Amino acid sequence: MPRNARIPVNRDPAYFDLGLCGPLREDLREKTQYCGMFRTPTLRNVAQRTVFFHNGAVHSLADAVRFYAERDTRPGNWYPKDSDGKVRKFDDLPVRFADNVDMQGPFGQRVGEAPVLSEADVADLVAFLKTLSDGYPIDAP
Ligand code: HEM
Repeated sequence: MPRNARIPVNRDPAYFDLGLCGPLREDLREKTQYCGMFRTPTLRNVAQRTVFFHNGAVHSLADAVRFYAERDTRPGNWYPKDSDGKVRKFDDLPVRFADNVDMQGPFGQRVGEAPVLSEADVADLVAFLKTLSDGYPIDAP
């Protein structure tokens, strides 16, 4: 996920939430193959959510699905640019863990290629995800 600048601790450029390998979780600290990985949440009632993914960087279900389509094809839509104009992809993960990033479809394409998911596919997936709402009341935003 793109780094979420609205999380106060992220003001420290040396701080990274690496999920399974810490720093909050401590038992898998040495398992560097897990650094940057987060547990997949249930998609039950996902359409009632207003923040998505582990760091809340995404605020609509359509964008959550669109991220899968565009992370590798249109990274400029998601990540900040360096002063030289280069997109700083995976800006919330130390470079040494880059090999841990999931590349299987719908990820894994090249910049400029057509996304595997069209906008119509994104809309279809959102429609499907909405069928996973079961009326459970979510009180807190
Ligand atoms: C088009 C296919 C996919 C759709 C529609 C989809 C949908 C979603 C959505 C909506 C979320 C956010 C849930 C939330 O924050 O409540 C999510 C999170 C997640 N998904 Fe997917 N997903 C897809 C493919 C995949 C694939 C291929 C993987 C594994 C490589 C994956 C692994 C995950 C993980 C680990 C999270 C949690 C990530 C985090 O919290 O940062 N998903 N997915």
